[in-house]
Amino acid sequence: MKQIIIEGGYELSGTIPISGMKNSVVALLPAAILSDEETSISNVPNISDKAALIEIIKILNGKVTELNNVVTINSENIISNLIPENLANKLRASYYFMGALLGRKKHVEIYFPGGCNIGNRKIDYHIKGFEALGAKIKEENGKCIIHADRLIGATIPLEFASVGATINIMLAAVKAEGVTEIQNAAKEPDVINIANFLNNMGAKITGAGTNTIKIEGVNYLHKAKIEVFPDRIEAGTYLILGALIGKNLTISNIIPSHIEALLEKLQEAGVTYKLGTNEVFIENHVSLKSINVTTAVYPGFVTDWGQPLSTLLTQCSGVSIFEETIYENRMGHVPYLNRMGANMIVEDRKIYITGKTELKGTDVIATDLRAGASLMLAGLIANGITKINNAEHILRGYEKIVEKLSNVGAKIQIVDIE
Ligand code: EPU
Repeated sequence: MKQIIIEGGYELSGTIPISGMKNSVVALLPAAILSDEETSISNVPNISDKAALIEIIKILNGKVTELNNVVTINSENIISNLIPENLANKLRASYYFMGALLGRKKHVEIYFPGGCNIGNRKIDYHIKGFEALGAKIKEENGKCIIHADRLIGATIPLEFASVGATINIMLAAVKAEGVTEIQNAAKEPDVINIANFLNNMGAKITGAGTNTIKIEGVNYLHKAKIEVFPDRIEAGTYLILGALIGKNLTISNIIPSHIEALLEKLQEAGVTYKLGTNEVFIENHVSLKSINVTTAVYPGFVTDWGQPLSTLLTQCSGVSIFEETIYENRMGHVPYLNRMGANMIVEDRKIYITGKTELKGTDVIATDLRAGASLMLAGLIANGITKINNAEHILRGYEKIVEKLSNVGAKIQIVDIE
């Protein structure tokens, strides 16, 4: 097991560069197998989710080469092999091979996806979308078999603007006959990143980033390149850290419009920052006041910022109310923050946080990726030593975390323990 050890309380100065977006790259890699030629993806973060997806591409007979942060995939000879349980289970995003393989080979065999344990996380909208395109789905001992003799474009209204369902349906529909219209589509930047990649291959997708996406199916997808957008969740995590303990700290390589909802809330709490074209600068951390935050689909306050933000809320004077609306179980960090000295009470999907409380270093457990990030922030501002067990969760989504934080003055290391 990996453990992150942090000695807290050091002010952070310098620059933290933001890597490529995890939630984009986990869809771009599966999307690559739709191409009948070679594609290349740049600004790919070196995170463990990426490694699992590359293994799956190789099982499907794709040829993958990696150089620095560029992944090149030759998918000329893709075959529809079974995606084994040990890989499908490693991350939720393995489900993007459902849409991609269905589009490319009209046949998929995959075990059900894994990922962070933050609620039910059903995939019924994905399945309904594939069925609307003409696919038949059956389940056999935990294995999902999806087959279509032909895929035919359809109008698909989503009950909820799900990021995963929007992208997965788009992946299948690019090679369907005729036009597909996804209504109530997710508007997250990740959807735009994937649509741009597919369009670069010759797909005909319009409306990505709005709530109606139209896809005119094509027969052949050629070679293409794409750059992964900067990770707005990683940027948000470090920005929150800057608000807590930054001193002349710059977060670089960001797209400001992607983090607007967070910037607004930080401003409301009293955080001062300077926004440049692709960076945010925090001169000093200041006294903070309580705020209320409710998560929402894009462009609202992203659910993935919620757990890191709750660490900030422990340092705001007064009672803050945080409400999670996307997932029913994203509260795994709360008992551990309380163990560190926070005053947080969970009621259903709300957390009441009374601050400001001093945090003390102790042993904690990362129950999921963003819970781990919130504990890491807590450790960096706490007195004494914090040990975060199950740190593998954090490595799923944050590239070079120890290096990036050490470079700005944090005392942090990662060790392997029994
Ligand atoms: N939902 C269903 N049925 C479906 C699909 C979704 O009920 O078929 C529900 C989910 O259970 C959840 C809600 O709808 O309650 C949101 O799900 P959505 O499909 O939008 O999210 P996702 O695609 O599963 C991605 C990211 C998440 C991020 C959300 C929201 C990946 C692999 N995951 O999840 O990232 O929170 O979008 O932006 O891209 C993370 O990075 O820590 C993370 C969890």
